[in-house]
Amino acid sequence: MKNDSQTFALFGNPVAQSLSPLMLGAAFREMKIDASYRALRVEDARDIPGKMEKMDIRGASITIPHKTGIMPYLDAVSDSAARIGAVNTVTRTDGGLQGDNTDWIGLVCALSEALEIKGKRFTVLGAGGAARAAVYGILHEGGIPTVVNRTTEKGQQVAKELGCDFHPLDQIQAVTGDCLINTTPVGMFPDTDASPVRADTLERFEWVMDTIYNPLETRLLKDAAGAGCQTISGATMFVHQGAQQIRIWTGLQPPTDLMKRVVLERLRDETD
Ligand code: ATR
Repeated sequence: MKNDSQTFALFGNPVAQSLSPLMLGAAFREMKIDASYRALRVEDARDIPGKMEKMDIRGASITIPHKTGIMPYLDAVSDSAARIGAVNTVTRTDGGLQGDNTDWIGLVCALSEALEIKGKRFTVLGAGGAARAAVYGILHEGGIPTVVNRTTEKGQQVAKELGCDFHPLDQIQAVTGDCLINTTPVGMFPDTDASPVRADTLERFEWVMDTIYNPLETRLLKDAAGAGCQTISGATMFVHQGAQQIRIWTGLQPPTDLMKRVVLERLRDETD
């Protein structure tokens, strides 16, 4: 008997904490797609293509620490993923394994719910893969990003490669902008008292976004609300990057509102 059920997976290390299985599983059910989505821990990115073949996995989400390491093992990589230097989505196609990056689209969708990106100035904290996705997305939409990073060399490198300004983190007081975006892990569970910047830095920004979604309201976002800024949660970006994965894999419109609801419910339960 032919089994038409499709298999999707998340590859990373660790994966136990990920909300992708909950969110994408709920989306497939709502879309009436006969599919399973499971989290698989892998230590070495080079093992991912073999596992996809063996387990007949049609599409995979790739998370920390394999977003860059997977790239040499793919048959094709989208222009955006190549420029960002990270792949978070792999699809098995007739032409082999295709790599994409949906983090930048997730960020653009999350920002666009709150403001018009075009012509606005964004201060991007950090210089890792998430920062590169943010800078790429902002430039793509006609915004003006500035990278601010603790380590000058790394920040300068990202700014030069993608085409924007750079300032060291210890000089952030000199940086102005419309929206501040944190892409560093500072403030992530369990270090929930930490913030990448002092609270008195924030009143200069009309909007403050965190790419961290656990906790839902980071210390940065609490400080930002206290300083009168509008805040944008990392959960919104997470939902939109997952929604884009579903579009790539199925060609169908995902139930974004439902995905957001299940993610927010779970994260709120965790803070209770
Ligand atoms: P990802 O690829 O997930 O974005 P990453 O490559 O580990 O993650 O990048 C994390 C970024 O957060 C880096 O730019 C890092 O700054 P450095 O380049 O100076 O290492 C930044 N970061 C991490 N911890 C930080 C801290 N305590 N204060 C300020 N920046 C920090």
